[in-house]
Amino acid sequence: MVIRKIAILFSGTGSNLEKLLETLHRKTFEHCTIDVVCTICNRPNAQGIEKSRSFGIEPIIIDHTLFESREAFDKILVKTILQSGAELTVLAGFMRFLTPYFTQHIKAINLHPSLLPLFKGSNAIKESYDSTLKVAGISVHYVSEELDGGEIIAQRSFEKTSSMSFEEFEAKIHALEHTLLPETVINLLNRREYE
Ligand code: GAR
Repeated sequence: MVIRKIAILFSGTGSNLEKLLETLHRKTFEHCTIDVVCTICNRPNAQGIEKSRSFGIEPIIIDHTLFESREAFDKILVKTILQSGAELTVLAGFMRFLTPYFTQHIKAINLHPSLLPLFKGSNAIKESYDSTLKVAGISVHYVSEELDGGEIIAQRSFEKTSSMSFEEFEAKIHALEHTLLPETVINLLNRREYE
């Protein structure tokens, strides 16, 4: 059985990190076993740090405020991921703009809380809620040099009703994220050709 190694990057609450660890870590699927070889966080006080520890994985903290430039931060990030042996990196609420140095060295996917290409950037949930659109949703896409602009891999949508509060809307987004991201990682890695 092939072991497929992944790295997970996060910045905050870490609810998606937790779902990934619960669903994938050291779990065996038809064509592979998935091993989360490292978790990396750029904020020393992020809630997700404890979540990672509860799965026995001590997160690597790379505090972006200690670096003089985005590229200097990305160089250490890339080195850490390459050293871990991860073949796929999953951005699960990792709130950093990445430089071409990162995208040229690392194969990564990102979770975004809107139906891309709509509502790119860090305020997607609010913008999507405030829009006149009657549907909303989430996307998983490859990370490219363009912010939230890489090839879309998977999306899930729902109907936005006028009675929905912002809190209900946000909860719906997160509930969809918690199933779509792990499913997408499994679909990418659990392929016969990798046997
Ligand atoms: C998620 O909603 C994710 O889609 C979003 O951050 C949240 C992280 O939540 N990511 C972005 O906005 C990326 N542009 P979590 O820390 O509970 O997983």
